[in-house]
Amino acid sequence: MATKHTVKPAAGRVGVLLPGMGAVATTFIAGVEAVRAGLAKPIGSLTQMGTIRLGKRTDNRTPLVKDLVPLANLEQLVFAGWDPIADNAYEAARKAGVLEEKLVEALRPRLEAIEPMPAVFDTRYVKKLDGPNVKKGKNWMDLAEEVRADIRRFKEEKKLDRVVMIWCGSTEIYLEQKPVHQSIKAFEAGLLANDPDISPSMIYAYAALKERVPYANGAPNLSVDMPAMIELAKEMRVPICGKDFKTGQTMLKTVLAPMFKARMLGVAGWYSTNILGNRDGEVLDDPESFKTKEVSKLGVLEHILQPELNPDLYGNIFHKVRINYYPPRGDNKEGWDNIDIFGWLGYPMQIKVDFLCRDSILAAPLVLDLALFLDFAERAGMSGIQEWLSFYFKSPQTAPGLYPEHDLFIQLMKLKNNLRYVMGEELITHLGQEYYE
Ligand SMILES: NC(=O)c1ccc[n+]([C@@H]2O[C@H](COP(=O)([O-])OP(=O)(O)OC[C@H]3O[C@@H](n4cnc5c(N)ncnc54)[C@H](O)[C@@H]3O)[C@@H](O)[C@H]2O)c1
Repeated sequence: MATKHTVKPAAGRVGVLLPGMGAVATTFIAGVEAVRAGLAKPIGSLTQMGTIRLGKRTDNRTPLVKDLVPLANLEQLVFAGWDPIADNAYEAARKAGVLEEKLVEALRPRLEAIEPMPAVFDTRYVKKLDGPNVKKGKNWMDLAEEVRADIRRFKEEKKLDRVVMIWCGSTEIYLEQKPVHQSIKAFEAGLLANDPDISPSMIYAYAALKERVPYANGAPNLSVDMPAMIELAKEMRVPICGKDFKTGQTMLKTVLAPMFKARMLGVAGWYSTNILGNRDGEVLDDPESFKTKEVSKLGVLEHILQPELNPDLYGNIFHKVRINYYPPRGDNKEGWDNIDIFGWLGYPMQIKVDFLCRDSILAAPLVLDLALFLDFAERAGMSGIQEWLSFYFKSPQTAPGLYPEHDLFIQLMKLKNNLRYVMGEELITHLGQEYYE
């Protein structure tokens, strides 16, 4: 019999802190408000709409995920964020242009009440943006202390029981792990010395962990993906996860690539290109921010197809990813894929995918799920890297020495089995009846 783990009750008020109040963050906040007001449904959210099979197929037990797992409900959520651009959530949502004017106007008073706190921001790390709403301090450590004070103030003023933080800020320039990222001690010395290998997203993450606030990273920045933060998360007993929301083209890639591998079809080339015209697209127009995104997007095929194990099929793939800033499209990204595959006796075939998507409409429900699942993880006593949340990320953070799982459906199985495990339900192995009777 499986053991049910102790999970603290979900009751109380839960703060959701968002560094970066741009298109994704405001579409998330406005979306939750719209659902609360009965104006729309939370489509795309596993925590709100997903079901989970329990026991044998013959048991006919398939409750909603939220009926199995004690999750906070939407009424319990309270929002706040930081942004160098001083627009409140109403103004930011209007400028992002994702949601219809009518909907944003209907939610205006609630959105206007959310003013961004001054950000830890430095144009060296996001070259295409600037804004006046920025913290000042003599070193990075001072700024981290200010963020910690913001978290405590938010908790007190809004009478919150718990808080989670989801990075929805811009993609920073590409940084690699350096000695300053290797231990808490080195990182704290780096904060005092204004080390240029420490970026603003790391400062928010550090502040969150020091305040025992679970942290998810929606962008491909290093952020918590380094030994120092993993050590801190373990020491403070806080769950962390990242990196980079998996929403559009990469989500499709992690569905199609496992299919090729399942059928032993070869891949000669995969050319992916995108046009998008939102602020994210503008930031990614800078080669240094694009490099961070490119690394995140390129990694998935390698891990799914395992060319080292299948050299005849995947040993010689040409994989290219492009993002082009094209303002007329705004947040409505178009992603094309041309995939050159080959089958029996090496005969070539092609697949063309054209995904006319909406970037922030795909990302917003992920922010909601991550906020609720991280809050659950913390109450269930889970800490450090939450691999079961890989489902939500392009570059899932994994324990040192392990490779990430990218296949969307393996990720989903991992997530659901984790929930079954914590709630004392049998894990589902998909073994046939002939084995388990
Ligand atoms: N489908 C998706 O939309 C998707 C998918 C994967 C990842 N992402 C990532 O999510 C992030 C948000 O995307 P978006 O479309 O909302 O972008 P956006 O440009 O609309 O919003 C990002 C906001 O972050 C702010 N910001 C930048 N640096 C900051 C800092 N140091 N502190 C606080 N705020 C800061 C910017 O001023 C901006 O308002 C981006 O990094 C993007 O790459 C988005």
